[in-house]
Amino acid sequence: MHTEQLISTFVEYYEERGHRRITGSTLLPPDGDSVLFTTSGMHPLTPHLEGRPHPLGKRLVNVQRCLRTTDLDEVGDATHLTVFEMLGTWSLGDYEGPLSLDWGYGLLTEGLGIDPGLLHATAFAGDGRTGPDTASVELWQGLGVPIELTVDDNWWSNGPVGPCGPDSEIFLWSGEGPPRSTPTGDDRWVEVWNHVTMTHRRLGDGSLVPLPQRNVDTGLGLERLASLLQGRSSVFACDVFDPWRRHVPALWPLDEPSLRLVCDHLRSAVVVLGDGVRPANTGRGYVLRRLVRRLLTVLWRDDPSRSIGDLPEELVQHTLDHFRQDTRPGDVLRMLREEEHRFSRLLDRGRQVLARSRFQGPLTEDDFGYLHDTHGLPRDLITSLRRHED
Ligand code: ALA
Repeated sequence: MHTEQLISTFVEYYEERGHRRITGSTLLPPDGDSVLFTTSGMHPLTPHLEGRPHPLGKRLVNVQRCLRTTDLDEVGDATHLTVFEMLGTWSLGDYEGPLSLDWGYGLLTEGLGIDPGLLHATAFAGDGRTGPDTASVELWQGLGVPIELTVDDNWWSNGPVGPCGPDSEIFLWSGEGPPRSTPTGDDRWVEVWNHVTMTHRRLGDGSLVPLPQRNVDTGLGLERLASLLQGRSSVFACDVFDPWRRHVPALWPLDEPSLRLVCDHLRSAVVVLGDGVRPANTGRGYVLRRLVRRLLTVLWRDDPSRSIGDLPEELVQHTLDHFRQDTRPGDVLRMLREEEHRFSRLLDRGRQVLARSRFQGPLTEDDFGYLHDTHGLPRDLITSLRRHED
């Protein structure tokens, strides 16, 4: 099943159940949100989860682009992307978690044809503050889906402060042969869908206060589910990456882990630029800068003459179209090239400065401070340049 078809099946299924489709937002969360980027479909809806009525009602469905920097080090494995799309549904003070899980099960099994024997669920075991999620446990038991209880993995929060609550996650078996073990003990169980019962708001001091209404917030990882439905071994092999796999290896011969990282970071950088972020030394712009520098470090390891400027414009256009962004691809490529030049000049300067005899031994905090303040060399760059010279 093509991802576009997966999206329409999902949205129609929920429209039939009284949900209205809302337009996905950009990667920039609303003012006052505690995160730099939208990391989950619920961010743009925070005020409505906290009680403000939504103009389209109490049942919503959408597709939301998200960016997660917490997963940066995992990018390249079978299931993590920096920018991904989340299919989301919401009950704003309307129906409760078990109905959401029941519908989710129905969509996966009848709607998408997944063998129910390949599913596993998890739910909140309870802690000192909040009791166990018995409603979800009973629902799963009634459906005959095996369930595992956890504490930390089944409490979902929107960053350090904001709406939160117990969740029940649905896992799909990706291994060969019949399923074994449980989701916490075997990563062949891939988490595809999270159903959060949003009951509380976490305050800055860590305390929890009840929300004025009980909500349900669900998020399904589009590329993850698509790759499993398409029988592919990783998210990088699902149809979303077809154009990347066609163009990038033809341009730069890379081993599979490097190819995944380069495609992921380039695609993410295009989307972030498309949403109006510009490279900078702080905040969102710094995340963008790090993505570009990381991918260039990989590209230049074998051949320093490689340049992002060689990327075909049609690949950038394809990505911008996919995310419905109207930035011109030529502008995106120009900004990427400018950032590449900046990084290249910084590396040259860094190599020259670090060659001085003063920096041949172990570096002190004063050295790092001087290199940063006088020469603009960040610590991670210094460390990687020195490692490279060893
Ligand atoms: N907000 C929940 C998540 O991102 C659905 O997992």
